[in-house]
Amino acid sequence: MKIAIGSDHAGFELKSALLGSVLKGYDVLDMGTDSTRSVDYPDIAKPVAQAVASGKVDYGILICGTGIGMSMVAGKVRGVRAARCSEPYSAEMSRRHNDANVLCFGARVIGVGMAEMIVEKWLSTPFDGGRHARRVGKIE
Ligand code: RB5
Repeated sequence: MKIAIGSDHAGFELKSALLGSVLKGYDVLDMGTDSTRSVDYPDIAKPVAQAVASGKVDYGILICGTGIGMSMVAGKVRGVRAARCSEPYSAEMSRRHNDANVLCFGARVIGVGMAEMIVEKWLSTPFDGGRHARRVGKIE
């Protein structure tokens, strides 16, 4: 499983924490940003979403202040199903029912512990398929 991750300045510290904990051992492509210097979240979200859409990676994780801007941008890329999740239940259901391939959350909304639980749940939950596959097909 290959994962692309990206954050803006607001999400940089949380991204670094996750790379050093729950994402250790995964094949992760860090697509920036690389400091707390201010950047524009669309400039990070678009290449991460395109990496997922093109099949270069299997999943994407995007972090900004709220997770909202990242999810708006990622969701505009054809083939991307971005889910903004602030707790593990939504993260689980976004995989089981929506086959989400990009996970977004806000570093100013949740702490490191919650983010780790969300990422763990999201990466370990498969798509249920069945009737959900029909619905996901209709998104496209
Ligand atoms: C940056 O201040 C903030 O607007 C950004 O991180 C994000 O929350 C946008 O949705």
